Amino acid sequence: MSEIILIAAIAQTNGVIGDRGQLPWSIPEDLKRFRQLTLHHTVIMGRKTWEFDLRKRPLPDRRNIIISSQSLQAEGVEFVRSLSQALECTDAKRFIIGGASIYRQALDVVDRMELTIVEGNYSGDVFFCEWRDRLSDFELLNLDQQDGYRFETYQRLVPT
Ligand SMILES: NC(=O)c1ccc[n+]([C@@H]2O[C@H](COP(=O)([O-])OP(=O)(O)OC[C@H]3O[C@@H](n4cnc5c(N)ncnc54)[C@H](OP(=O)(O)O)[C@@H]3O)[C@@H](O)[C@H]2O)c1
Repeated sequence: MSEIILIAAIAQTNGVIGDRGQLPWSIPEDLKRFRQLTLHHTVIMGRKTWEFDLRKRPLPDRRNIIISSQSLQAEGVEFVRSLSQALECTDAKRFIIGGASIYRQALDVVDRMELTIVEGNYSGDVFFCEWRDRLSDFELLNLDQQDGYRFETYQRLVPT
């Protein structure tokens, strides 16, 4: 079965996900979990996440697909022109790894969301989309409370 999974870390208070092209926090356990979940699967990202967060270095041992309207090329990654083109690949697990513009476009099509909700106040310049309005489309499958953050897994409800 093929699955589309959104994975994001979000500030609980204001929905911040980025600050000047970087994560506003440092949570090694979150990065470890990100790696464990995405390893050997496909990661799909926007051009800015590729350029500023990844500094144009592909995530190793994963298929890296980057969405851009520009004609770009780089070793070890694939460029596509839209999210729907990125999702044409039929790999078993396709992770939507950001940033904000790609999350917004993907919310309608994701089967699962792996969210890290970060407690405390963080300032930033990029925000996650209004996902809480859409939570009736999903059920909370798992909640794992940690010190200062928690992992939440949501599965899209199948209409009956
Ligand atoms: N907290 C988290 O979990 C997390 C995860 C990832 C990223 N982030 C943060 O998110 C921020 C970046 O997000 P962002 O929204 O500014 O940028 P982004 O989504 O990473 O990239 C935006 C770019 O993607 C391309 N794009 C998006 N939609 C497209 C479409 N439909 N067709 C063609 N190209 C399209 C465009 O590239 P072109 O301009 O080249 O056409 C656009 O400028 C950073 O601060 C980063 O740290 C946070």
